[in-house]
Amino acid sequence: MGIFTKDIKSMEDLLIHGLQDIYYAEQQIVKSLPKMIDKATNRNLVVGLKAHLEETNRQVQRLQKVFEKLGKEASGAQCPAIDGIIKEADEIAGEIEDKAVLDAAIVACAQAVEHYEICRYGTLIAWAEELGHDEIVRFLTTNLNEEKAANTKLNTVALRKGVNAKASTAA
Ligand SMILES: [Fe+2]
Ligand SMILES: [Fe+2]
Repeated sequence: MGIFTKDIKSMEDLLIHGLQDIYYAEQQIVKSLPKMIDKATNRNLVVGLKAHLEETNRQVQRLQKVFEKLGKEASGAQCPAIDGIIKEADEIAGEIEDKAVLDAAIVACAQAVEHYEICRYGTLIAWAEELGHDEIVRFLTTNLNEEKAANTKLNTVALRKGVNAKASTAA
């Protein structure tokens, strides 16, 4: 974004900026998920995060197609919100010694990422719908549904696959 000029003039510009923001965010998530996977211990958590890393790679490709459809080059705009969520995850993980407590923290950090993505995709879909970009709506909805499913899986891992229960017994 320009410092001296206001670059976002139309809702179309706003949509493009939002797409650049989520494109950057997805790329940062691709970089940070392997670190979370390395630190996680619970098997279900590790498997879930690995599967979502693969999904996230496909989401990046889907976003590239969205830019293509709009006749724009795929490019990211730095997103301080996702940088902050990832930074906080790194910081908290660095403070935790117990592996079970660390798993509970990793679930929480991953869910913060998913909720952020769900919020952004929801908005982008609404804007794309309003602007009549039906094909783009379909790509973005696929990504949104994957984020929602990832969030639900994280709930299951925390509540029913023993992550929170095991963490609660750590001294
Ligand atoms: Fe994503
Ligand atoms: Fe995600």
